[in-house]
Amino acid sequence: DFMSKEISENGQVVRTALAIPEADIDQMVQAIDGSERTVLTGVGTSYYVALMGQYMMSGLANEFLPAMSSDEMPHMVSLRKGDHVLSISQSGETYDTLRALRISRQRGATLSSILNVTASSMAREVDHFIDQGAGPEICVLSTKSTVSQLVILLRIAIRLAQLKGQQSDEQISTLEQDLAALPDRLDAIFTGDHGQIRDLARHHSVMRNWFFLGRGIHHGLALEAALKFKEVTYCHAEGMSAGALKHGTISLIDDAMHTVIFLPGTDSPQLRQHSLGAMAEISARNGKLVAFQPQDCPQPEPRPETLIECPSAGRWTLPILQLMQAQLFAYYTARALGRDVDKPRSLAKSVTV
Ligand code: AGP
Repeated sequence: DFMSKEISENGQVVRTALAIPEADIDQMVQAIDGSERTVLTGVGTSYYVALMGQYMMSGLANEFLPAMSSDEMPHMVSLRKGDHVLSISQSGETYDTLRALRISRQRGATLSSILNVTASSMAREVDHFIDQGAGPEICVLSTKSTVSQLVILLRIAIRLAQLKGQQSDEQISTLEQDLAALPDRLDAIFTGDHGQIRDLARHHSVMRNWFFLGRGIHHGLALEAALKFKEVTYCHAEGMSAGALKHGTISLIDDAMHTVIFLPGTDSPQLRQHSLGAMAEISARNGKLVAFQPQDCPQPEPRPETLIECPSAGRWTLPILQLMQAQLFAYYTARALGRDVDKPRSLAKSVTV
């Protein structure tokens, strides 16, 4: 099937994204830096990519670039001349994102895009775009194109941070080394022993209700992991920030509810501590926990029922590794349930209405 083939290509599409000429990245950085405000937009998975991008821009470059779902953007943001909209779209044909761009244009904003299909309406309508070059994505679900978009946004955030003097030369070089190591780490997830994820999926495929949690950039990851899971398994999955759980949703936690939580590494101590706090709240109510974390971390306390580890990585590429694991989890659960992984019911590759 194409879904697993395309997940297996994650490492390769990152190599391609890392080979995009610096001049193309710089053009986007200049569009951001030269604007009064930049809004990141997309819808569905592409919105969650934008949201993770917002954390990257803020955490690395100290820049506030709000992410808005393109279907609601025209109702929420009043743009004007001097503003800039950076849209993210695999297909370049998504109606909601095209509509948001056209309304932004009418109001005087400049437009740019990160696209995987360059013979598309969006490519023709924006002022400039970055071509992901991730190759055709046949499965209706976005997997490899998502990973490639995240890497491009991370490159933009690193360059913006450098331009703004927000990271030292040494920090920039550490970030670049971490990015350079990402393709091999993604390959290692696929070629290595991901049998644990397959077994988890097989043993839990009867579960119909899931929560997916994370904090910081792992919040965007949790939303995307939940979307991927429900698209292909037809099981209910709710993604949210781990901090939001106690503000109502916690009433649903009992011994029949399973929660996936994406933990950061020990290099993000506060974020990790807050995530462990959410785990304690779930555990105290007998909720079942599946935790994802890098392999160089101590055992989380409280202990989850299942712990899935990934190769150690820097704090900004770790969510990309965990995203690949979440894609595999959705894939194996769907296979265990006999779903059509490449063409889930009711979904289309491009939502043009
Ligand atoms: C992704 O798996 C979904 N099928 C969907 O959310 C998709 O990301 C969304 O429709 C936006 O598509 P685009 O990236 O082509 O604009």
